[in-house]
Amino acid sequence: MAQSVKGTRDLFGNELDWFQRIEDTARRAFQRHGYWEIRTPILEEIEVFKRSVGESSDIVHKEMYDFLDKGNRHVAMRPENTAGVVRAMIQHKLLASSDPQLLYYIGPMFRYERMQAGRYRQFWQIGAESFQVASPESEAESLLLLYDFLRELGLVQLRFSINSVGTPECRPAFHAAFRAFFQAREAQFCEDCHRRIQENPLRVLDCKSPQCQAALEGHPVLVEFLDPASRAHHERLKELLTALDLPFEENPRLVRGLDYYTRTAFEVLSTDLGAQSALLGGGRYDGLVKQLGGPDVAAFGWSIGLDRLAMLMQALHGTAPRKPAPVLIPLGGPATLKALALAREWWQAGLDLILETRGGSLKKALTTANRTGAPLALILGDGELEQGVVAVKDLAAGTQETWPLAEVPARLSAR
Ligand code: HAM
Repeated sequence: MAQSVKGTRDLFGNELDWFQRIEDTARRAFQRHGYWEIRTPILEEIEVFKRSVGESSDIVHKEMYDFLDKGNRHVAMRPENTAGVVRAMIQHKLLASSDPQLLYYIGPMFRYERMQAGRYRQFWQIGAESFQVASPESEAESLLLLYDFLRELGLVQLRFSINSVGTPECRPAFHAAFRAFFQAREAQFCEDCHRRIQENPLRVLDCKSPQCQAALEGHPVLVEFLDPASRAHHERLKELLTALDLPFEENPRLVRGLDYYTRTAFEVLSTDLGAQSALLGGGRYDGLVKQLGGPDVAAFGWSIGLDRLAMLMQALHGTAPRKPAPVLIPLGGPATLKALALAREWWQAGLDLILETRGGSLKKALTTANRTGAPLALILGDGELEQGVVAVKDLAAGTQETWPLAEVPARLSAR
């Protein structure tokens, strides 16, 4: 029997209930802040990612699902959505005016990664991207949206981890100092780091090997190489986070796995599941739009892994709150036709109702209703039909009463 492809999975039941709950909460938060949804294709030309996420990043270098299509185009299944959104903004000239553009997306991403808890090859992200926004205040707005959204989901042990990765102008001086530091203890670093120091020295800070992390002790710190404007930007963001009571810590090794960041880079750490882990990440990417052929605009954004968030919600709260609908059970031919017409009327009035359509015994219908957790069974037999009523069985209490058919919508919506 065929199985789902390794690293992918079917979503249903409780996990999907959480996905939907999280998505609904996110959409409401975005709506409140004036963000618009954007949906870009899963397939993009591979260059979109090479020129943004970066050829030296693990995402492009090792994890991309890319192939030649039947027309010999080199395409990739998106490993993230910032690059695709930027491509779309340029293509549709959505950055022609200097007005801020606030956007969000929810959708699947693909990375050929080693499987771990909460890490998949097809995973979902919720993301926010703001364009034409350069101020630390705009970052505070985006981070407030994010923080309050996570709080609304019931997460409390949250902490921002922030850094400034500077601008392309101030990085060469840092790179030089960092290369000198690296060379002095070269032998202590792993083979990958020897490649990273050539391609993008910042990546060395991101190495997961405990040995490399130990060798980094006392490394030159990027914030000390910032130009005055970037330094002021960073200081102002910290001031704002403090004033808004958003808990944060500075992490000089936080550089993130994507090449496009400038100035602010951040992650959100949560200890809601015990051990501290990164729930999401993002930052400023002022040079990216221009790099992909668009105008020179400032931009900031973040994405959160929905899979990881749903896992956290499940661990914290168990099953997602779900309200099963009452069941309407017709008995006999004439009642069945009437039940279809009544159910239609009630559905049109906005009520939730499941219609039993199998036409079997009442016992079988009640067994199913009980199994699905229906709160009420509305039973419509020939007798009830004649009198214009329905027998209503409370499946939890085991009690039964009779309601006039005309009163059903009001009584159901009052529950
Ligand atoms: P990222 O850090 O590569 O950033 O991914 C963001 C989040 O996606 C991660 O923190 C994690 O929650 C989730 N994620 C990544 N890979 C996996 C996986 N294999 N399985 C499950 N979840 C995963 C970005 O993607 C940037 N586009 C963020 C951004 C937006 N920066 C600016 N704007």
